[in-house]
Order: sequence, then structure tokens, then C-alpha cells
Amino acid sequence: MERTLVLVKPDGVRRQLVGEILSRFERRGFRIVGLKLVQPTREIAERHYAVHQGKAFYESLVSFITSGPVVAIALEGPQAIRLVRQMMGALKPEEAAPGTIRGDFTNDIQTNLVHGSDAPETAAAELAIWFGADELLA
Ligand code: TYD
Ligand code: MG
Repeated sequence: MERTLVLVKPDGVRRQLVGEILSRFERRGFRIVGLKLVQPTREIAERHYAVHQGKAFYESLVSFITSGPVVAIALEGPQAIRLVRQMMGALKPEEAAPGTIRGDFTNDIQTNLVHGSDAPETAAAELAIWFGADELLA
């Protein structure tokens, strides 16, 4: 069993795709163990994207992710980290397969609707950034 962090980014909330996105993960069989609507501060955005600090797209990324509320979702299930990443689709629009969230709903590299943790270590760190221990189900 694994746990992973998903964010529906501000574009997903603005486009009213929260239900669509959550529904895909629920139908796949994942259990929601944490869920909340959050307006990210610059501080939380910087912690979340610390690995990208200094890159050309960093400032733009932080400004995008803080541009409106996001939905933070903690999901649990077998191979949750890898399966959620598959369901999100690739970062590059030309590589995001139809049937994935990005492949079905976006053609832009930045406004790409979802974040998903990419490894067990990042999942644990990111869940701790977005959720207090008392906000996650046992
Ligand atoms: P990354 O972790 O590489 O992608 P993913 O979201 O698939 O895990 O990058 C984090 C975010 O940074 C990505 O969702 C969008 C943004 N980004 C750009 O805007 N341009 C880029 O060239 C890259 C690599 C990322
Ligand atoms: Mg990433």
C-alpha cells in the first residue's frame, strides 16, 4: 500500500474539473485519505517546488501555483505513486496520451491541471507539506 499527494492546480479549479479529476482516481479504486481546498502561500509553493529552484520556469511556476486555490488530495492504494502518475499523463503536451488527465484536458506545459508525487520520498515529504497528521485518515 502506498500514499501519494495529488494537487488539482489553480487551472483545474478555475475550469471546474475538480470532480472530473477526483472521480477518475476514485473509479480507479484509490481511497481518499485527505482532501482540502487551499489557497497556497508563496512559502508553501516554495517548499513544494524546492527541487525546481533556480530553473528557468521556477518563478513562473510558483506564481502560477499561487494564482488561486488548489485542491490537495491524499490518495492511498497499491502502487498509488506510479499509477497516479500514469493517469496524469506526461508533462510535454505531445507526449501526454489521450485517456490521461493531461492528454484529455490540456495542451499546455504549465497549466497542466495536476501534480502527483513522483517517488516514495517525495510523496512522504509532500504529504507533510500539505497535510497535518490530524488531517489524514489512519
Ligand atoms: P516536473 O516535476 O518536471 O513535471 P511533473 O509536473 O510532470 O512532475 O515539473 C513541475 C512543473 O513545472 C510542471 O508540472 C510544469 C512546470 N514546468 C514548466 O512549466 N516547464 C518545464 O519545462 C518543466 C520541466 C516544468
Ligand atoms: Mg514533478
